[in-house]
Amino acid sequence: MTHSLLILNGPNLNLLGTRQPEVYGHTTLGDIEALCKTTAEAMGVSVTFAQSNHEGEMVDMLHAAQSAHHGIILNAGAYTHTSVALMDAISSIALPVIELHLSNVHAREDFRRTSYISRVVVGQICGFGAAGYPLAMEALAGHLNNK
Ligand code: DQA
Repeated sequence: MTHSLLILNGPNLNLLGTRQPEVYGHTTLGDIEALCKTTAEAMGVSVTFAQSNHEGEMVDMLHAAQSAHHGIILNAGAYTHTSVALMDAISSIALPVIELHLSNVHAREDFRRTSYISRVVVGQICGFGAAGYPLAMEALAGHLNNK
């Protein structure tokens, strides 16, 4: 069976490339989407790539993923550190989720060490920049294959 993966990006990630390049680099979200599509082809999985600046819309996308995808890679951006709603949405769907961050959130401000979603995900990948996306895809596909 071909695994279908949703890669969902949260607030401000649409500005990658120009947003704080000293933290997030110069790679745009479009570059990352292209990298994920190439990786998906090589891996033999299908991938849907999405971004939203709105918490409720992200909740809706997580709910909708249940009938469309086998697993989710979630870079929730700042909502990682604030959103009980996203945590509850992940708990409410029967899909494995991998938490992803471009930056090493543990090496930054203290508030970034708190993740509401960590407790309901399979695992977290952070600190590898754009390269974290293909890593997360391999990790999620491996997890799905072992189920
Ligand atoms: C981020 C880390 C978050 O703390 C931050 O709010 C983001 C991006 C990352 O990918 O490193 O928006 O999720």
